Amino acid sequence: MQDQIRKPIYVTQPSLPPLDEYTRILEGVWERGILTHNGPMVQLLEKELIDYLHVPNLVAVTNGTIAIQLAIRALNLEGEIITTPFTWIATASAIMWEKCRPVFADVQPDTFNIDPQRIEEKITDRTSAIIPVHVFSNPCDVEAIQKIADKHNLKVIYDAAHAMCVDYNGKSLLEYGDITATSFHATKIFQSGEGGACITKDRELFERLRRLRFFGHDEKKDIVDEGLNGKMTEVHAALGLASLKWLDKVLHDRREKYELYMSLLENCGFIEFQNFPPDSYNYSYMPVLLENEEQLLALTEHLNGHNIYPRRYFHPSLNTVDVVSSKEHFPVAEDLASRILCLPLFYTLKKTDIEYICGLIINCRRR
Ligand SMILES: Cc1ncc(COP(=O)(O)O)c(C=O)c1O
Repeated sequence: MQDQIRKPIYVTQPSLPPLDEYTRILEGVWERGILTHNGPMVQLLEKELIDYLHVPNLVAVTNGTIAIQLAIRALNLEGEIITTPFTWIATASAIMWEKCRPVFADVQPDTFNIDPQRIEEKITDRTSAIIPVHVFSNPCDVEAIQKIADKHNLKVIYDAAHAMCVDYNGKSLLEYGDITATSFHATKIFQSGEGGACITKDRELFERLRRLRFFGHDEKKDIVDEGLNGKMTEVHAALGLASLKWLDKVLHDRREKYELYMSLLENCGFIEFQNFPPDSYNYSYMPVLLENEEQLLALTEHLNGHNIYPRRYFHPSLNTVDVVSSKEHFPVAEDLASRILCLPLFYTLKKTDIEYICGLIINCRRR
């Protein structure tokens, strides 16, 4: 196809279920006239996700950011929370909205996840918790992190916004930590437009999360806690239910496309890849690490010139962002942030598009 008539290819597109499957579920919503307040579609989505993911308890909420905030509130956290600078701003802003201070610990250069050794250096008598992020769905070193948390009596909340449908050591990755917060945003591997969830093994925390997302109401609608409005709507839950039917297909497709990219780029000699355990990864992103920022910018310009729009994730490293205001340097996170580019990867992307993109990448280097 001529470049001039090639449609733009962006980094991602939502995995949409067939429209008629969505509208069929919506018909019931219209008939009942119930749009929110923990309605039957939200309850059904929670039940189906618990079965699909094999997790003990799950509370569906408005989005992944609110899921982190509710988790912080449910655990009564205060003071300092150790997290990674190599993440989306939502991880840090959720901490700040809950009146805590994010304290960064640098990441590992190969996994892109928070480095447990760097966590211990950051613990003070004000530290209340650790919020690691499973970056691009790569499992953090959950055992080492739990050991540190136990030793210093800290809570652990995982930001698993990228990490739906990942099993690790024989169980869902979402089961680790005191609470895991995940996202069902339009661009995530499982999507309900906007949405998210908190997952916890602890029944009391589960009950509290349910109250907190609903203005602090208990079952009798008495106000018994300091809550907020974190409810998912029936319209979003319906989209989640329709998407869930297609999730196996989406996961399978994503892995095939990731592997195609790898087969075409693996030996090109100027790109590095994230190091992850192959059976504990959902292949939802296609991050590549260029040799330096100059090459990243040159490649981006070259691809943009052919109507291909990859995206930098997570740039800039959060410690350099004014609103978070950390004066410290985090050499590994800053280096990764300057060199990572996520290539287009989504359900409707064609394999021929991937071949075309990889051809452009290899040619860009040869020019
Ligand atoms: C690592 C990470 N944490 C949290 C979030 C926030 O999720 P949401 O957009 O559902 O609020 C995102 C969203 O992209 C994310 O990438």
